[in-house]
Amino acid sequence: MTRRKFIAGNWKMNGSVGQVDAFGRALVEAAPSLDCDLAVCVPFVYVERLARALESTHVAAGAQDLSSEVDPGAFTGEINGSMLAECGARYVVVGHSERREMFGETDDIVVAKAEAAIAAGLTPIVCIGESLEQREADETENVLARQIGALTRGCERRTLEAMVLAYEPIWAIGTGRSATPEQAQSVHAFVRSQIANWDATIADSLPILYGGSVKPDNASALFAGADVDGALVGGASLKADSFVDIARAVI
Ligand code: G3H
Repeated sequence: MTRRKFIAGNWKMNGSVGQVDAFGRALVEAAPSLDCDLAVCVPFVYVERLARALESTHVAAGAQDLSSEVDPGAFTGEINGSMLAECGARYVVVGHSERREMFGETDDIVVAKAEAAIAAGLTPIVCIGESLEQREADETENVLARQIGALTRGCERRTLEAMVLAYEPIWAIGTGRSATPEQAQSVHAFVRSQIANWDATIADSLPILYGGSVKPDNASALFAGADVDGALVGGASLKADSFVDIARAVI
């Protein structure tokens, strides 16, 4: 199956109202020439503003997390998927390694958040990936198999059919040291094979993004991998120019 390339940005805890507005203006201009799916996941407070700025384009706005609670209630500080959808979000990053490492998100929480996203009509971009220690200990495939196993065991079929996976080796995030195109393709093929063991049809249509120091100058080599369906871009998504250049690298 031919999978359409998808480039998603993750601003993390960066940005400002001015940056959102400038990004929106630049993408309104560039979007008609970009032949791929696009999303930009920004801090909660900017989601609605970005969604409005992009409404004339095919570029979606998204968030970077959501509550695992679906229904409203006494959960101080939490934001549920329906609220994000009402603000114009179409995607939400789930289980980013920064949330797993710094905020104690377990595989079970990641499953619950992916389910909560789907319940609200959002597409979860679910992140998986190994640390440097795990890679050096030759544990990459075991770690990924565990993370994927949690998803295939815990998620409903409709969630697995609709989700996007992002393989982000933790050692490549924000380090300037991207995985090589060969490393990325080899892991993506492994990830797809793990999903195929569970359901070959879903594996075939599942978008698997690569994340970790993707820049305009390494994007096209990474995208050449048969199982690399696009990118989840951190730092280089903060500027419209570099985000657009990465999208232009789509073959
Ligand atoms: O979600 C994005 C990733 O963490 C990649 O970040 O492109 O700054 O390395 P980076």
